Amino acid sequence: MANSIIVKKKIGSFNKKITVSGDKSLSIRWVLFSSLASGVSIANNLLLSEDVGAAIKAIRKLGIKVILKKHICKIFGKGINGYNYKKNITINAQNSGTLGRLILGLLINTPFPIRIVGDKSLSKRDFKRISDPLTNFGAKFKLKDKKYLPLKIIGSNNLKSIKYNENRGSAQCKSAVIFGGMRAKGTTIINAKKSRNHTELLSKYLSLPIKVNKKKRYDLIKINKTNKIKPLNYKIPSDISSSAFFIVLTALSKNSKLLIKNVNVNSSRIGVITILKKMGVKIILKNKKIYRGEKNADIFIKSTKNIKSINCPTELNSKAIDEFLVIFLIAAKANGVSFFKNLSELNEKESPRLYWATTILNKIGIKTITTKDSIKIFGNPNLKVSGKIIIKNFLKDHRVFMTSVIAALVFGGDWKIHDKDSIKSSFPNFLKIIKELKK
Ligand code: S3P
Repeated sequence: MANSIIVKKKIGSFNKKITVSGDKSLSIRWVLFSSLASGVSIANNLLLSEDVGAAIKAIRKLGIKVILKKHICKIFGKGINGYNYKKNITINAQNSGTLGRLILGLLINTPFPIRIVGDKSLSKRDFKRISDPLTNFGAKFKLKDKKYLPLKIIGSNNLKSIKYNENRGSAQCKSAVIFGGMRAKGTTIINAKKSRNHTELLSKYLSLPIKVNKKKRYDLIKINKTNKIKPLNYKIPSDISSSAFFIVLTALSKNSKLLIKNVNVNSSRIGVITILKKMGVKIILKNKKIYRGEKNADIFIKSTKNIKSINCPTELNSKAIDEFLVIFLIAAKANGVSFFKNLSELNEKESPRLYWATTILNKIGIKTITTKDSIKIFGNPNLKVSGKIIIKNFLKDHRVFMTSVIAALVFGGDWKIHDKDSIKSSFPNFLKIIKELKK
């Protein structure tokens, strides 16, 4: 009981300014880069969530000292070859695909086998997509059923550069290979379908030997062996993926306005803004600035009455990959049928999200046609929900939980949503901010 919430009332109008927590992708990357640096790195506004906590525990196990006080974190890197750990260690990536996958790139030279485990959700996700390219460097893997966690990685001290085609648009695959390339002799070449580029931007800021040649749909990335990484002081901006819930909440609430302060608006991440704007949602980016090579801005949103349906361009898929669940709530209120396709990757997330999107939409009375990689959503501009709705057994997927809460607050109905603790993996403050908006 305690781990579920009941929502019975729609949210009233609000006009507020909020700050959401630090970006998860940047927080985990900062922890990993800092663990390799020569010297002390300091982060401010690090996301204090279970995924980032798991990253900190992981590098501590690898012999790196970390001091964490409130949102300030100090990592005492000992250089690119500074990991120092006991035999037979196990790293628990918990719920984090980003940690579980990226860290493998850093471990391809481990002299002792290292075991990687995860929670129930992570243990259902594909790790072969990472072990395949990393095997080509010379590392060896043993995976459960050749694809899943738990896995064991055994490194090599004779790593050779590789050529790798990344065709999924997965930043996790691309980043694991960039980290691997930093450890291998020669030049590693990645032809990567566009995906979030935080690893490349941080590498550039750190002056690492990495070159990116941008093409229309792919980036050609060349990585050379890296000898030294300087410490990285970083003030983590807010997370666009966490902001997306409040963007949608505001757009679908009556007479409301919201300003979300200092959000990372890297162009490889703002698919949610592009898609929602195409659907008629009023969003303005204010106070744009560049920080350590990343774009940050305040996001201003207003309630929107006339929402248009969309045939979503597939080139926006990777830019909005974590936001589709909540984007689909906008489509539920649109005038017409929206179509989102080539989205098989959505079923590779913390839960099979096309399935959960369909479940939530059908429960609120929206017709959908779902295939293994697409969804058609038959919008209803007059949508009103009543009656009891229960959401449970969704593998504790934080984004299924938060999307359900937003649906309850904007559409009405009598909701019981299980597994409230799921928000701890990415956005522990989520319900606190909702409380603030209700005041
Ligand atoms: C992430 C990449 C994406 C995204 C995940 C975070 C990252 O995963 O869904 O939440 O930080 O690199 P894929 O690489 O599987 O697309």
